[in-house]
Amino acid sequence: MAILVTGGAGYIGSHTCVELLNEGYEIVVVDNFSNSKPESLKRISEITGKLFPFYQMDVLDKKALDQVFSENTIEAVIHFAGSKAVGESVSIPLAYYQNNVIGTVILCEMMKNYGVKNLVFSSSATVYGATDQVPITEDTMLGAVNPYGRTKLMIEEILRDLSESDETWSIALLRYFNPVGAHRSGRIGEDPNGIPNNLMPYISQVAVGKLESLNIFGSDYPTKDGTGVRDYIHVVDLAMGHLKALEKIRSKRGVDAYNLGTGSGYSVLEMVEEFEQVSGQSIPYTIVERRAGDAAICYADVTKARNELGWSATRGIHEMCEDTWRWQQNNPEGYSEESKIKQETRSPVLKTAVGLFMSH
Ligand code: UFG
Repeated sequence: MAILVTGGAGYIGSHTCVELLNEGYEIVVVDNFSNSKPESLKRISEITGKLFPFYQMDVLDKKALDQVFSENTIEAVIHFAGSKAVGESVSIPLAYYQNNVIGTVILCEMMKNYGVKNLVFSSSATVYGATDQVPITEDTMLGAVNPYGRTKLMIEEILRDLSESDETWSIALLRYFNPVGAHRSGRIGEDPNGIPNNLMPYISQVAVGKLESLNIFGSDYPTKDGTGVRDYIHVVDLAMGHLKALEKIRSKRGVDAYNLGTGSGYSVLEMVEEFEQVSGQSIPYTIVERRAGDAAICYADVTKARNELGWSATRGIHEMCEDTWRWQQNNPEGYSEESKIKQETRSPVLKTAVGLFMSH
């Protein structure tokens, strides 16, 4: 019995694959590499010393998805695959509704056809809109403020309808706060396309000298130092949350939403200072206008995840910055540069893995 991981080559997906393999789960990964690189799969294998089947395909491709379900015995699905850039979703909303909403509907149809009814869905704190009511509990009013957020909210509603129609489904909606950090090994991490939209990859690219200076979006918020406050969560803690959710849905039917955060908020300036300390580099910055749609403060109430999943984050901002920095220093060009260099020096284990990966 295997866990199907869609979007398993991506940032959160790859870290979750590592934890699943370490825990002894069998996994099957699908990814279309629209926002990820094959190299991350090789690194998952390298870190864990394990091989796994991989299909390069889109979840919108029904035929390919059918093949995945027919060739493997799938017990549950962790669904990461989707588009995630807020700004881009405003420019190309139809692509977001297509990839995220339709992609999930197709995946669920296939799961239903094969009698697989355990699903962990990659949702986001974005479903709470731009609320300033903190801490945010799972019962805080929902309401998205951009197409990306609406896709996450719509999918949550679709999954609730599905569960309402058939009580044998078990679904966990994991609402991520601000994922940062990287695997301790420095071998997998976040590899954004182009100039990063998010704070942490931006800071680390300034620290490594790829970008000149950070723009801080507003210093007049009603927060401790005027800059925006967020609940940053280490990606490995987040990955562990998926394993706990997987255990939970094995024993509990219906739909449940869980906030995955640390429960603490840090300001932009606090993150900059911590990163400077950890890296020994200075991070020059300029205060600019607020970014449209940004809330002043956002952090989670994590009581439900702690009580019901037996999960809580253990890594603080020091470790988040340390691990981000190690990844950034070791991979200044993300996966692309390394994958060229690695061609010649690949270990025998990885050579075998390459053959096994590309089974579609
Ligand atoms: N920020 C800057 N400069 C930058 C980037 C960000 O000052 O260059 C600030 C933002 O204004 C905000 C904080 O840093 O105060 C964090 O911003 P991020 O873009 O890293 O993260 P967001 O909280 O805006 O977005 C995250 C996810 C989204 C998700 C959203 C709401 O990246 O996918 O949380 O849950 F939709």
